[in-house]
Amino acid sequence: MSSKAAKKKTRAPRVSKKLAKQPEKSVKGKAYAVLVAELRSLLKGEYDFIANTANFSALVYNSLPDVNWAGFYFLKDEELVLGPFQGKPACVRIPFGKGVCGFAAKQCETVIVPNVHEFPGHIACDVASNSEIVIPLFDGERVLGVFDVDSPTLKRFDDQDAEGLNELVTVLVAHEEGLDG
Ligand code: SME
Repeated sequence: MSSKAAKKKTRAPRVSKKLAKQPEKSVKGKAYAVLVAELRSLLKGEYDFIANTANFSALVYNSLPDVNWAGFYFLKDEELVLGPFQGKPACVRIPFGKGVCGFAAKQCETVIVPNVHEFPGHIACDVASNSEIVIPLFDGERVLGVFDVDSPTLKRFDDQDAEGLNELVTVLVAHEEGLDG
């Protein structure tokens, strides 16, 4: 083999700058990837909305550590109405724009609250809750409702939870809309 050929063989594979910059998935990121796979398998072949949202809540509640409530509120006539959930009984109706859930629905964005006692207008359903994350559900531009997760630990949720939970709700909504094939 010529020295030129030998050189060619040992050259490192080309990786685009974008790919090379991507960090390894963290432990949390990997855990969410497992949850997404579990969710897909729970949803497979089933299109009953209540059954799927109930199982979604149970999956998140029983898989995420340090969580005391996980569930849905759906937007009906300017109010968020309690849907399938896991945890203690919760307030049934939240006016659009009120509480963390109403705020997330109105702003159309994920809201992470490190300390619920410092959030103006927070609605306390379970006194054990100290931090919270709320993810809006969309049908295109339209807000369908929110998925809410509470924790007894301050600062429990971070951007990786936001990313992982958003992926989970996106998989759920796409499935319900028949967009996942
Ligand atoms: N804390 C929420 C109310 C729902 S419960 O946490 C289940 C809020 O402020 O909107």
